[in-house]
Amino acid sequence: MIQAIRGTKDTLPSDIHAWHTLESTFRRVATSFGFQEIRTPLFESTELFSRGIGETTDIVGKEMYTFLDQGQNSLTLRPEATASIVRAVIENTLVEKNPLVRLWYMGAMFRQERPQKGRLRQFHQFDAEILGSDKPEADAEAIALAANILREIGLTAFELQINSLGNTESRAHYRAALQAHFAPFIDSMSDDSKSRLERNPLRILDSKHPEDAPAVKGAPILIDYLDESSRAYFERVQHLLTALGIPFSVNPRLVRGLDYYCHTAFEFVTTRLGSQNAIGGGGRYDGLFEQLGGKKTPGIGFAFGIERLLLLLEEEGKLPTNEISCDVYVIALDDDSSPLAMKLAQTLREHGFSATTDALRRSFKAQMRDADRTKSRFVAIIGEQERLNNKVILKTMATGEQVEIGLQDISALQELLKK
Ligand code: HAM
Repeated sequence: MIQAIRGTKDTLPSDIHAWHTLESTFRRVATSFGFQEIRTPLFESTELFSRGIGETTDIVGKEMYTFLDQGQNSLTLRPEATASIVRAVIENTLVEKNPLVRLWYMGAMFRQERPQKGRLRQFHQFDAEILGSDKPEADAEAIALAANILREIGLTAFELQINSLGNTESRAHYRAALQAHFAPFIDSMSDDSKSRLERNPLRILDSKHPEDAPAVKGAPILIDYLDESSRAYFERVQHLLTALGIPFSVNPRLVRGLDYYCHTAFEFVTTRLGSQNAIGGGGRYDGLFEQLGGKKTPGIGFAFGIERLLLLLEEEGKLPTNEISCDVYVIALDDDSSPLAMKLAQTLREHGFSATTDALRRSFKAQMRDADRTKSRFVAIIGEQERLNNKVILKTMATGEQVEIGLQDISALQELLKK
């Protein structure tokens, strides 16, 4: 028996309504902010991600699905959307055509992480990016879009945390201070942190290894190393969020797992999903365009993990469920009525209603049970009697009320079904 790959999941018909609800909310809210949809390929040159996300990150270092195609090109299933979107924007000169580009994207991402609750190898993100603005207004707008989406979905058990990673100079000072701080602890630290000390000391702050805790506890804080302009930028972002009525807290240890960030970094976290506590996150990336060969263009964006949003909705008892799946279940009582039942179902569909017939040709009782199971609002019954009289019985499932109408009298049927 061939099974699904570990860390991948089938989305079954019983789950699909919740997905559709989230997807239409993303689309609606993003459109209301003036964002437009973009779709990029599932795989890209490996170099796009190693250059964009950063060689020293966990994603590039150990989580990418990378393979050689038949032409010996190294390709990678995208682990995130931002690098792909920036590539597409550069390649299609979108910022040259319009200095402020707002894009959203939804789709599958791939990371070879250890699967657990809320952590998959194929997962799905909703992603939004604002390209072209280096103003704090863009940061506030991106965060407002994310907050509006969460509100529209109905989630409440989360908190917005923000931090500033400052500009390049501030980060360089901080990096040096961190290295000096961690150096005396190096012998007792985890192998991961040892290898990060030189290459990416900020990531040590994120370490989940208990042996790193003493060193991390007293580590210097980035905000203390921000220069005046970075500090002013961060204050302005906070001022705008407050003006917009978006609650947040500053988490000075928030560093994020991708290397392209500067200035604002943020995460929506929950205490309800165990260790996979981030339902979404993002930040500003003013150097990414240049890193990928484009001209200097600032950007800010975020992504939600759709599976985590669904888990949290379930936790909060707010998972959308499908109430009605079918308008009319057309029951044929004998073989001769079956073509009429199928024809009536066709006519109903042509008039905009959903209609089902029983392809198993079961007994009347079994078809009634099936109408119940499919949450049909009405059943239409055609048997010998009805066939001979050219009539159909329409029964309202909720009340049991029954009326007889002409089989061809579609306007009478429409009237009844609209009630
Ligand atoms: P990220 O923090 O790596 O950011 O991922 C965003 C969200 O995707 C996470 O908060 C989480 O909800 C979800 N996620 C990540 N990995 C997994 C996984 N293995 N299983 C399930 N869900 C997962 C980014 O990807 C950036 N591209 C966000 C961004 C956009 N920054 C700027 N623009």
